[in-house]
Amino acid sequence: MSRYEPSNTTVGIVGLGYVGLPLALAMTDAGYDVIGVDVDEERVAQLEAGTSYLTDVSDEEISSFVGSGFEPTVDYDRLSSVDAVSICVPTPLRKTGQPNLSYVVSAVEELATVVPPNCVVILESTVYPGATEEVLVPALEAEGFEVGSDIFVAFSPERLNPGQDVYKIADIPKVIGGVTPRCSEKARAVYESVFSELVPVESSTEAELVKLLENTFRAVNIGLINEVATIADELDVDIWDTIDAASTKPYGFMPFYPGPGLGGHCIPVDPMYLSWQANQKGTQTRFIELADHINRSMPGHVVSKVGDLLNDNELPFSLADVLIIGVAYKGDVSDVRESPAFDVVGELQEKHATIRYHDPHVPTFEVEGVEYDSTPLTEDAVRQADCVVVLTDHEVVDYDFVAENASLVFDTRNATPHRGREWVHRL
Ligand SMILES: NC(=O)c1ccc[n+]([C@@H]2O[C@H](COP(=O)([O-])OP(=O)(O)OC[C@H]3O[C@@H](n4cnc5c(N)ncnc54)[C@H](O)[C@@H]3O)[C@@H](O)[C@H]2O)c1
Repeated sequence: MSRYEPSNTTVGIVGLGYVGLPLALAMTDAGYDVIGVDVDEERVAQLEAGTSYLTDVSDEEISSFVGSGFEPTVDYDRLSSVDAVSICVPTPLRKTGQPNLSYVVSAVEELATVVPPNCVVILESTVYPGATEEVLVPALEAEGFEVGSDIFVAFSPERLNPGQDVYKIADIPKVIGGVTPRCSEKARAVYESVFSELVPVESSTEAELVKLLENTFRAVNIGLINEVATIADELDVDIWDTIDAASTKPYGFMPFYPGPGLGGHCIPVDPMYLSWQANQKGTQTRFIELADHINRSMPGHVVSKVGDLLNDNELPFSLADVLIIGVAYKGDVSDVRESPAFDVVGELQEKHATIRYHDPHVPTFEVEGVEYDSTPLTEDAVRQADCVVVLTDHEVVDYDFVAENASLVFDTRNATPHRGREWVHRL
């Protein structure tokens, strides 16, 4: 199957968030005409005005692509003559812990009514194994299409790592699996002009499992290192030095780092998609449940450590001023989804501490109905705190300055210079 020629190919992207927007720009950059559909009118208006809402995408990039190959719109009808469409809508969990595929369902139902015959539909959103076949195929067939014959369906998981610019989206090997062999071929032909390496797998279900394996691997290993960190703490051994030393082993060890808990739309959520599917099949995922349990206990561990440190200064939480640095779920992003900062702040609220926070990427933050504004990181702001708690390591934060001016620091991310400073404590 020969590849689609960018000069005469139009593709659609449904959902222009952390995944869809960079993908849309990469496809435009490869020479395709790209129509990006999002239900969020404000986001589309921002893109049309040449401004970005993602820390990883600059206004300059938006301005250079919008109107020059990339058309953002709220109108699904614009997809009526596309050759292919990639779906990048959210796949969160319901409060019950069950997968919430409602965004995927609504997106595919909408586009099934507008896409033309022979269109290639590629799902990028993370889903449970089997979902592409169970959700996309019937929705398209309900509109009279026959999958593998006059419409082609594949799953290709996005592997972006927001907040870093080492790997460009087009350079990350792209796993891809079709519902039928012909679907696989067609999807590969669409992505061949965009990605430097394609990794074809047997089926869409296998591609779905690849994504869940990758993120479950991270969640479980982070759970392990968080557990070892609490043991190291009891032993009065520095976990960071321990990991550095273990990492000198040239084989068989891969470093993972402890932290205040998991956050974001992927690592805390995706393993639950696998465990839900395992339960449907009558099996259990004990590693996943255990890692989830340990990772969810970390915000409590952080608050308990802060309490111990304040106690050493004979200060109860109710009289303490706590300055949190970083409420985004990780460094250099503005994303607070599932951030452990919610639980840390929530527990501090229950203990009646005075709470302030600084995050250069998150201007406001709401927990349990209390809205906080990011406080500027001035000398006064740091000095006023009885304890500074570092939750993320944002590149633009001057942790040297924090270490110089704070009277007490509890650092969960190894960001603050600590050597020889008895007032800087690490997780
Ligand atoms: N964020 C990441 O780092 C990352 C990495 C890899 C994979 N993923 C997966 O990619 C998917 C998307 O995640 P994200 O972080 O980009 O989400 P996001 O919330 O940043 O973006 C999703 C976009 O989809 C839009 N949308 C919602 N419903 C829609 C609909 N019916 N039609 C059109 N647009 C709609 C929203 O308005 C939003 O702009 C998820 O399944 C996620 O698990 C995310």
